[in-house]
Formats: sequence, C-alpha cells, structure tokens
Amino acid sequence: MNPVFVHLVKPTYLYARYLASCVADRRLGIVTTDERLGHDPSNDPAPYRSVPGGYHRAASFTAIRRLLHALDPGPGDVLLDLGCGAGRVICLAAQRPFARVIGVELDPGIRRLAEENVRSLRRCVVRPEVIGADAATYRVPDETTIVFMYNPFGGEVLRAALTRVLESHERNPRRIRLVYANPREHEVVVSMRRFRETGRLRMSWRPGPDWARTQMMRIYEVEPDG
Ligand SMILES: C[S@@+](CC[C@H](N)C(=O)[O-])C[C@H]1O[C@@H](n2cnc3c(N)ncnc32)[C@H](O)[C@@H]1O
Repeated sequence: MNPVFVHLVKPTYLYARYLASCVADRRLGIVTTDERLGHDPSNDPAPYRSVPGGYHRAASFTAIRRLLHALDPGPGDVLLDLGCGAGRVICLAAQRPFARVIGVELDPGIRRLAEENVRSLRRCVVRPEVIGADAATYRVPDETTIVFMYNPFGGEVLRAALTRVLESHERNPRRIRLVYANPREHEVVVSMRRFRETGRLRMSWRPGPDWARTQMMRIYEVEPDG
C-alpha cells in the first residue's frame, strides 16, 4: 500500500476520529476512548501504533448513530451487544426508546469500565445492563430483537454465540435482526443457513479494498428453521 497513506493519511484520519470520540464521550459523561481498555498497541499494524488506543477500538460514534437511525427501534425492541467493550454502543442505544439494552462482556476489567460508564451516563431513556459472560454460552434473553457484534470473536466462538441466538428464536419465534460490524467472518454467519442478509451500512471513509470490506455493517434477519 502507498506509504504516504499508511504513515500519514491514515494515522491522521484515525487521530481526528479519536478526538471526535473524546468529545462525544464527554457529552454523554462516559469514557470509551480505548486507552482505558489497557490495550498494548506495540503489536498493532503500523497505522494504528501512533493512535491512542491503537487497533482495539470501539465502533465509531457516527457509525453507531447511523445504525440506530436505520434500525428505528421502538419500545418493544431489546438490543443485545455481544462483546460490549467499554459500552459505547449500549450507552448510545440507551438514548433511544428501547425496552432493554444489554451488553455482554467477557473481560472482567473491561466489563468494569462498561459498568462505570452505565452509572455515569448523563441521560438515557433506558439504563443499560452489563453482564459478565462468555457470549458462546450466554443464554440470549427471549425478548431480544437486535443483536449487535463489532467483530468481537470469530470461528467456533462466533458459531456458538450465533447458535445461542437461534436457540432463543426457537424458544420464542420473532423478528431478530443481527448487525455484524467489521464482518470479517461473514462466511461463518451465512454458513449457518438461518441468517439472511437484508442490508449493509457503511461505517466510515473507505479508501482501500480492505477498509471497504471491513468498514461496514452487515444486517441479517433470522429465518425460521426449515
Ligand atoms: C471490538 S470490542 C467491541 C466493543 C463494542 N461492541 C463497540 O462496538 O463499541 C470487542 C469486545 O468483545 C469482547 N469479547 C471477546 N470475546 C468475547 C466473548 N467470548 N464473550 C463476550 N465478550 C467477548 C472483548 O473483550 C472486547 O471488549
């Protein structure tokens, strides 16, 4: 890839996005800018090393707002963020009229950050819930209507987490939308044969083929079995 892009354009863009996230955090009374996630950026790909928080980051505020607008949730909707990190998605979703907003996080340290953010969140329609659990074994609440994942895991864990979603659908058949941001393992989702892709949303500027592939969200709906 062009070195000017890798060493100058991309880090500058990422840094500007980081600063915008700090401002958005402050307005909500939360901290989701990722140096608090304790990630060591020394092994990150080059463009991320100079950006606070490095590679391990949350979905951008702009992308989450665009998604929530597109989903247009109502008071019967329940959002579940599998791998909620410090809680950026659940804190933004809490500004909307959901019945419940739930975040599941495996890492105890990161889960504590999410809990602090939920407590300090300045305004919300519904107070989010944070659950410490492994998405591979977590029993999906049967009123969940929107499942969000920002590329939190792959392979067998992804397959197991999606199986938990299907089990919940079997217990209580209903409309479930699955949103997969940075959908690196789209093939795993499709191979399960019960998730039909119904839409896509762009997450950010997409100057190259890798960003074009990853900086988007795929939206699926659960299909009835058989
Ligand atoms: C990229 S962060 C996404 C944060 C958040 N969803 C957002 O978009 O702002 C992915 C999170 O998934 C968590 N995670 C990884 N494997 C998990 C699992 N098996 N169960 C629950 N959480 C997991 C990680 O600890 C990390 O905090």
